[in-house]
Amino acid sequence: TRKIIIDTDPGQDDAVAILLALASPELELLAVTTVAGNVPLPLTTRNARQVLELAQRPDIPVFSGCDKPLVRALVTAEHVHGKTGLDGAELPEPTMPVQDEHAVDAIIRLARDHPGLTLCPIGPLTNIATALRKAPDLAENIGEIVLMGGAYFEVGNITPAAEFNIYVDPEAAAEVFASGIKLTILPLDCTHKFLVTRDRADAFRDLGTRVGQTVADWTHFFERFDMEKYASPGAPLHDPCVIAYLLWPDLFSGRHINVEVETTSDLTRGMTVADWWRVTQRPENALFIGDLDAGGVFANLTDRLARL
Ligand code: BDR
Ligand code: CA
Repeated sequence: TRKIIIDTDPGQDDAVAILLALASPELELLAVTTVAGNVPLPLTTRNARQVLELAQRPDIPVFSGCDKPLVRALVTAEHVHGKTGLDGAELPEPTMPVQDEHAVDAIIRLARDHPGLTLCPIGPLTNIATALRKAPDLAENIGEIVLMGGAYFEVGNITPAAEFNIYVDPEAAAEVFASGIKLTILPLDCTHKFLVTRDRADAFRDLGTRVGQTVADWTHFFERFDMEKYASPGAPLHDPCVIAYLLWPDLFSGRHINVEVETTSDLTRGMTVADWWRVTQRPENALFIGDLDAGGVFANLTDRLARL
């Protein structure tokens, strides 16, 4: 089994990523670490606990992390995810504890205890960059980072130039991208091809389970944004692509390229400048995923959620 930490700001799509990991025996989820992003930190931490309780896994420790980006004011996305960040389904107030240890310290400790582990950031990269600053040995202990963030051909979803996770904390993203750690990036180019259409949401509902019903309700809430605003046939289920990539890498394709983050321009803050056509000599620092077999991944995801 592959040991992973999910660093997250749930978010309906983050929630589905956590559920997919819990449903997959190939993965051992060591911890869920939370960060401010889609909504402020108290809500992302509460939401993570609600998701674990929904999956009946209160044994998975939740660590609360950074409540704001390294240098910028927090930007949130209630316009997409609702007031709580997890609007759309009724879930009880969580009762499982939040660990006392800070998420940054937990990431450092777990990476030392389990060298080679995979970090799965699906929110702004503040916790990861802070951990790298605090523990110079961290880069050696982490086997791989597989994250959702950035965009190339699909450009931006929070500004015309930038994807949300990178935009919120571009300085953190730049440090993570430059860390030398093996890095795989699932950008909008990939996730915008992974749409929850009505049929796919119905397939979740048809599982006839609490989890299936809840995921259908979440995606129904989440999809209203894209269907109304962009006349898209469904909303992209961004974050589950990270876990799906770990499970079924053959269903994804991309290129090993150089990707860097714009941190100085106001206009293009948080833009991921990806050298897709290799027009520079800059060294490769990431596998940048451009495409996936959406039908295959949806079938597998639905199948896995049925186990919960
Ligand atoms: C990313 O931003 C968040 O709103 C989603 O949860 C996802 O991680 C997509 O840009
Ligand atoms: Ca997210």
